[in-house]
Amino acid sequence: MEILVVGGAGYIGSFVSRMLLAEGYRPTVLDNLSLGHRAALDPRIPLVTGDLADGGLLQRLFSDRRFDAVMHFAALASVAESVQAPLTYYRNNVANTLNLLAAMKNAGVARFIFSSSAAIFGTPERIPIDETHPARPINPYGRSKLMVEEILRDAAAAGDLQSVALRYFNAAGASPDGRMGEDHRCETHLIPLVLKAVLGGAKSGARLKVFGTDYPTPDGTCVRDYIHVSDLARAHLLAADYLSAGGASAAFNLGNGKGFSVMEVIRTAEKVTGRAVAFETADRRAGDPAVLVAAADRISRELGWQPAYPTLEAIIETAWKWHASHPDGYAASQTGPQD
Ligand code: UFG
Repeated sequence: MEILVVGGAGYIGSFVSRMLLAEGYRPTVLDNLSLGHRAALDPRIPLVTGDLADGGLLQRLFSDRRFDAVMHFAALASVAESVQAPLTYYRNNVANTLNLLAAMKNAGVARFIFSSSAAIFGTPERIPIDETHPARPINPYGRSKLMVEEILRDAAAAGDLQSVALRYFNAAGASPDGRMGEDHRCETHLIPLVLKAVLGGAKSGARLKVFGTDYPTPDGTCVRDYIHVSDLARAHLLAADYLSAGGASAAFNLGNGKGFSVMEVIRTAEKVTGRAVAFETADRRAGDPAVLVAAADRISRELGWQPAYPTLEAIIETAWKWHASHPDGYAASQTGPQD
């Protein structure tokens, strides 16, 4: 199966493109390398460097190669940044996706797998969050993802395409050999920051901030559902197979179904690393819901998805291998993790 992986040099996209290659699919990556890393890509995977805003490039790409499906990871994904720069978010996450969908339609490519987010649900009314939970996003990032889901539903109803939207909960972890992992230009995610505090805390005095200790949760800190990046990647391959077998358009929530508080993440990281995490408590971060936990029964039932890393400890172990061996991320990798 020929698959175009848009944003395939990013954190999740790079895991998916490698898994596709390893399992006999034929991925081509389109990435503008604004946030992705060339070093994260297997050199055997063709890379087209370019942007979804470039209609001419998309037209050429789809006429040069016949794709069976498109997976779309390229998006801006910071809630706080989306509140500061909503127009940038709607342009990147919505308008650019429309360019991609239009190019697909012109080329007669009808299968689309979309990276959606738990952020479409806003402040949850009940836990765990299944697919019948109302979608009421509370920030531009979440709205941008929901807008695309709605566009996909309309396009499916018009017979233009079949799609699967995967609503990720908290993506985390790295490859078990520690050679690929999370490397964001401006890191905001808890697990990398906890591990960076372990690594750098002693010498720089950098301390992790625990945002909020007065939430209505057992220990007062926020609870999240952490899912290993390889388990997320697996869901994309299952979705591609599902669509190619004629599956109807669908949206699935994707998490482990278990919640862990910020303090539980810190304690687990201390156990895995054998070192103390230097932290201090701070005010709540704006827009953080107290608890986000997925009900992933539907994807298990309909696509046969099962996590290979169901425990927080296993997820943090892989992340620790990566951060301990790559304190500067991919910056030090000249030729990529496969060498
Ligand atoms: N946290 C801290 N200190 C930090 C960083 C995070 O206490 O330095 C806390 C946050 O307040 C939150 C939890 O750790 O309670 C997890 O935070 P992350 O930033 O790792 O993840 P989020 O749950 O905020 O974000 C995830 C996805 C987003 C998505 C969002 C939906 O990464 O893409 O869920 O709300 F939009």
